[in-house]
Amino acid sequence: MLMAAGSQNKPLISRKSASLKGRALGPGDKSVSHRALILGALSVGETAISGLLEAEDVLNTAEAMRKLGAQVARQSEGRWTVNGVGVGGFAEPSDVLDFGNSGTGVRLTMGAVATTPITTIFTGDASLRRRPMRRVLEPLSLFGTVAETREGGLLPATLKGAHAPVPIEYRLQVASAQVKSALLLAALNVPGRSTIIERAATRDHTERMLSAFGADIAVEPLDGGQAAISITGEAELRPVAIDVPSDPSSAAFPIVAALIVPGSEILLQNVMLNPRRIGLIETLLEMGARIEIQNRRDNGGDAIGDLRVRHSVLRGVEVPPDRAPSMIDEYPILAVAASFAEGRTLMRGLEELRVKESDRLSAVAAGLAANGVRYSETADSLSVEGAGPAGVEGGGTVATHMDHRIAMSFLVMGLASRVAVTVDDGSMIATSFPNFTALMRGVGADIGELGQ
Ligand code: S3P
Repeated sequence: MLMAAGSQNKPLISRKSASLKGRALGPGDKSVSHRALILGALSVGETAISGLLEAEDVLNTAEAMRKLGAQVARQSEGRWTVNGVGVGGFAEPSDVLDFGNSGTGVRLTMGAVATTPITTIFTGDASLRRRPMRRVLEPLSLFGTVAETREGGLLPATLKGAHAPVPIEYRLQVASAQVKSALLLAALNVPGRSTIIERAATRDHTERMLSAFGADIAVEPLDGGQAAISITGEAELRPVAIDVPSDPSSAAFPIVAALIVPGSEILLQNVMLNPRRIGLIETLLEMGARIEIQNRRDNGGDAIGDLRVRHSVLRGVEVPPDRAPSMIDEYPILAVAASFAEGRTLMRGLEELRVKESDRLSAVAAGLAANGVRYSETADSLSVEGAGPAGVEGGGTVATHMDHRIAMSFLVMGLASRVAVTVDDGSMIATSFPNFTALMRGVGADIGELGQ
């Protein structure tokens, strides 16, 4: 008999925990891991990567790079090598590229193949097949790329790479590092100089890494926080060794857990502190969080450090909308922190949350409602009434909608709520943070499978 849809669901439960203690090393950065594999595949020679995030999203990108002709090999835990084909060297894959749950994997790879004369077919899981692809396919068409999608710009999609690509000048219509990165990767195989104008500063890992691999790329600041990023094509990329730091977006879960569980004190090691990724830490500090950055150091041009986090009395704040790009993946866990704060936390400029792995704004709102937290939601904002000393009731079952960050956020909520919190499916956590449960249990969190 066929298995019923949803029978693979893995419900998880988290219960009120004693103080969290100890040190932990979170998983490698997802954004850097995808880019290390893709730039490695576009280089001539061998790229050595250490600390690669071995999670489903990144493994799908590794597999896609193999199907495009690169040699991608796992040497030992986190240590990978990529022998690239060079810019313009991708071979037409003989099968569909399936990116699972990953918007970053699919959109960056669309860019990487867009100016090479091959045909590539892209798909993903049910969540990814609901997410918008026009934001990347429309600007790619300016290079001469031709794409066919399902109705509404949805996957599956077929891309025919441009035979005689032309350079572009394009102003980004959405604050998206994925779109920016796709265009920069496409521009690599185009004669002449392309310019991408960014209206709001999003994560800059692609720019930094392209520069390290020897591309001729320049970033010119413009008025009003805008920037013009220009890159010369027909580039020859030279491999560099990449040491992937720990992902601040994953560290966010143990950080908030330690802030809300009384008596906690934990140390998170090697966390990436790129200024375009630390909006959550800034916000939590404004809320009164006791987070100390220790041992700040350089890692291949980017700052990293260790974070000492202690239980804190948090107060509600207003998060400026222009901070959204630097903490775009962190609003679900911020909403959990805000639930335990005194007073209201207002988050604005959240329209992009509607098109993440789930409609994160409504998924968070439903999770708050299920656990007795008061909130109000608009098209692009969320306001959370913190429970303060009264504490969060909990007791809800949260629908995760194939979204890893919804699952992890509400499991963190359960660690400090009066009644345990259940998430209907924790299987998606493997897309970004496969050892989440083990790491959290290692510092004392009571998280496990439902019924055990
Ligand atoms: C990412 C960019 C962001 C972020 C995603 C990772 C990246 O998406 O949400 O998790 O690695 O470039 P958008 O570019 O769509 O905002």
